[in-house]
Amino acid sequence: MSEARIPLSEPCLTGRTRDYLDECVRSNYVSAVGPFVDRFEREFAAYVGSRFAVACASGTAAIHVALRLLGVGPGDEVLVPTLTFVASANPILYERAAPVLVDAERETWNMDPELVAEELDRRARKGLRQPKAVEAVHILGHPARLEPLAEACTRHGVAWFEDASEALGARYADGPYIGRHVGTIGRLGCYSFNGNKIITTGGGGMITTDDPALARRAKHLTTQARLPGPEYRHDEVGYNYRLSNLAAAVGVAQLEQLPEFLAAKRRIAARYDEGLAGLPGVTAPPRARWAEPSLWLYSVGIDALLFGRGWRALVAELEAASGRGVDLVVLNDAPPLLAHEVVADGTCLVCRDEDERVRFVARTVSRYLDTAHLRRVQHAYLRERTEARRARPR
Ligand SMILES: Cc1ncc(COP(=O)(O)O)c(C=O)c1O
Repeated sequence: MSEARIPLSEPCLTGRTRDYLDECVRSNYVSAVGPFVDRFEREFAAYVGSRFAVACASGTAAIHVALRLLGVGPGDEVLVPTLTFVASANPILYERAAPVLVDAERETWNMDPELVAEELDRRARKGLRQPKAVEAVHILGHPARLEPLAEACTRHGVAWFEDASEALGARYADGPYIGRHVGTIGRLGCYSFNGNKIITTGGGGMITTDDPALARRAKHLTTQARLPGPEYRHDEVGYNYRLSNLAAAVGVAQLEQLPEFLAAKRRIAARYDEGLAGLPGVTAPPRARWAEPSLWLYSVGIDALLFGRGWRALVAELEAASGRGVDLVVLNDAPPLLAHEVVADGTCLVCRDEDERVRFVARTVSRYLDTAHLRRVQHAYLRERTEARRARPR
């Protein structure tokens, strides 16, 4: 291992990246017009099985445009999960609308669709205004349970869309959406290609839809809402959210390697599963029977009581054991959003396809657990629980 930090997730700029970038330089098509943008959109749509794909500057931009397309504006509300990256919620605030945070479920760590249904039913019963939209996020590469969510939204006439930024390559393995990719079920899907995502364009995003009118307007909004013709005329407020030809060239090369990247993620996950199996207080990432997750960042939930210590201590231990920095991302650490109880203390582990690093992390976590301190904590916990049970009136 090198002396550098052990990064959480590194881009792999392999394959035909250089060839395609050379082509951009030779042709002088480097900005937002150029053949790679069209090709990336076409090939991406074909891969996920969507009729249209519109490339844009980032996943955040894609979500912002999706909200505009669904008519979200000042004073509206949008339901969004508590357990997500802050960029799922920020674009709601760009529109002066309000995110309404919904708790996660244990089965997938995604927004609990039954809570969504309850909330929509409650509002209908009381004659309250419904949210303008529901944003389902496929967190950490695991598909969200969309069927009950879609049903509730349809029942109450509420639009919904998907933030699939972290989940490109994940699919449904059973049920009504069997074989379908995340991001292609709601009216719109949003993806991110930032540096740590399963494919990267340096920075970039994509909006998918089957609706030609939405696709046209998405393109319009991402290109400054400029009308066709030689003059500079604009019919509404638009954005410079285009993806450059250079970035799209990288995207095309990355997409060609996506099956390999997905296979690598699964190999890494299998190694962590093996290395962390049976450790008390450590919950492996969810894998619902009906889902084919991409396992984008291998993440664990930590029950601080059973585990003996929380994630901060674990990170410090890993750093001490490796003699250098270790990048770990903490779940639920988006300050503007609220923490929730399901995965209140969890962390994404180092996720590069390098045997040595993955094994090192798994080994350190399990050794760390095997301490006298942990046994003391667990004994104290069990004693407390037994005493509480005994004290309970029968
Ligand atoms: C769940 C989620 N939504 C949105 C985004 C925003 O994507 P980007 O960084 O490309 O703007 C990200 C990742 O960064 C994300 O993880």
